[in-house]
Amino acid sequence: MDVTLRDVRDSDLAVFYAQMNEPEGVRMAAFTAKDPSDRAAFDAHWARNRLDPRVVMCTVVGENGEIVGHAAVFGPPEEREVTYWIGREFWGRGAATAALRELLDVVADRPLYARAAADNGGSIRVLQKAGFVVTHNERGFAHARGEEIDEVVLTLSGLSG
Ligand SMILES: CC(C)(COP(=O)(O)OP(=O)(O)OC[C@H]1O[C@@H](n2cnc3c(N)ncnc32)[C@H](O)[C@@H]1OP(=O)(O)O)[C@@H](O)C(=O)NCCC(=O)NCCS
Repeated sequence: MDVTLRDVRDSDLAVFYAQMNEPEGVRMAAFTAKDPSDRAAFDAHWARNRLDPRVVMCTVVGENGEIVGHAAVFGPPEEREVTYWIGREFWGRGAATAALRELLDVVADRPLYARAAADNGGSIRVLQKAGFVVTHNERGFAHARGEEIDEVVLTLSGLSG
C-alpha cells in the first residue's frame, strides 16, 4: 500500500495508543513498555520524545488519510536507531516496507541500527528489504513475554555493495 509520512499530531496519539495495545502486536514487538496500557506513561513518553530534537517521529498515513502507524529514529549520533509500528488491520500490505523506505529518504544518518525479537520474522524481513543486515545477536528482557529472549541487531551501513 502507498503511505506517506508526516509530523505527529496530538490527535494521532489515541490511535497509536490503541495500536500499541493490540495483543498480537505487543507480543510480536516483545520489547515494549513495561505496561503498554498505562496511558499516563504512554503520554509522558510521547511528550518527551516529541520535544527531543534528536528524535524524528512520523505518523504513517494511508492513501485515504487513515493513520496506519508510526515510524521513528532516535538515539545519540553514534547509535541512531529506527523503530516502527503498524496497526494490526494494515499488516501484510507493504505498509511497513513503504514507511521505512520513506523514513530512510528523510533521515540521512548512517550507520542506522534496528532491533527486533529474533522471532519477529516480519519486522526482520522489512528491515532486510531496506538493506539492513543482521550484525549481532543479544539477549534481553522482553516485558511483553515476561522473560529474557533472543534479540537481533541489524545495521544499515550506508555503504554500497
Ligand atoms: C512487523 C510489522 C511492522 C510488519 O508490518 P507490515 O506492514 O505487515 O509489513 P510489510 O507488509 O511491509 O512486510 C512484511 C514482510 O514480512 C514478511 N513476513 C511476514 N511475517 C513473516 C514471518 N513470520 N517470517 C518471515 N517473513 C514474514 C511478509 O511476507 C513481507 O515480506 P514480502 O514483502 O517479501 O512478502 C507489523 O507487523 C507491526 O507493526 N508489528 C507490531 C510492532 C512491531 O513488531 N514493530 C517492529 C518492532 S522491531
